[in-house]
Amino acid sequence: GRTRGVVVAIDGPSGSGKSTVSRRIAAELGLAYLDTGATYRAATWWCLRRGVELSDTDAVAATVRDMPLEMVTDPAGPRVVCDGEDITDAIRASALSAVVSQVATNLEVRAELCRLQRAEIEAEATGAPGSRSAGRGIVAEGRDITTVVAPDADVRILLTADEQARLARRAKELHGTADAATIEATRDEVVRRDADDSTVSTFMTAADGVTTVDTSGYGVEETFHAVLALIRAAAPAR
Ligand code: DC
Repeated sequence: GRTRGVVVAIDGPSGSGKSTVSRRIAAELGLAYLDTGATYRAATWWCLRRGVELSDTDAVAATVRDMPLEMVTDPAGPRVVCDGEDITDAIRASALSAVVSQVATNLEVRAELCRLQRAEIEAEATGAPGSRSAGRGIVAEGRDITTVVAPDADVRILLTADEQARLARRAKELHGTADAATIEATRDEVVRRDADDSTVSTFMTAADGVTTVDTSGYGVEETFHAVLALIRAAAPAR
């Protein structure tokens, strides 16, 4: 029968460089790209839009179950559409970033979004009708992809970087520069949020069978080549 597409799972904390590298890898190999963090951000956007109190865990879970979410998994232009509205930019707002952990630590929400993410991965691995990669496969990135969402992925990678490197990258992303002031302004978004998120996923240390790539001293190019080499070694047929 037809071979399955490749599934690449990449986890890491904020500022580890996983989104940039995952997109580039997917584009290079003709794979779909799934940013699972964006599904948690979309869930948060949807709850806020519906006026749901984020501390009301049951109401949040029920609201997320009815979320009409569409993830556009094109690595050249990934988009998030909810209820017919393109929310790709809206879900990056700092006010939303500040509260997304409240939704991402809701265990019923995690179960629901995990189902959605697995369905997306399975569709790309099997080339289901409408799949973006025509069955070539997918790069899925987040916090619990190597451990919970796709523990049987062909390639499982944890990207790490020391705190200083992660803060500097995020500051650059958010503010365009990484001086002392912007690094301090970024600390809550990176360190506090990762600490909160760590209570439900173990993305600061690699699980069994997961390869760690420390990107502290790496630029995008070096990380890209290190990850590509791991994929080529693990899935040589592709
Ligand atoms: O990577 P990001 O900042 O876009 O992630 C948004 C939020 O979702 C963040 O609080 C971490 C959380 N998240 C998660 O809990 N599990 C994932 N697989 C991906 C993201």
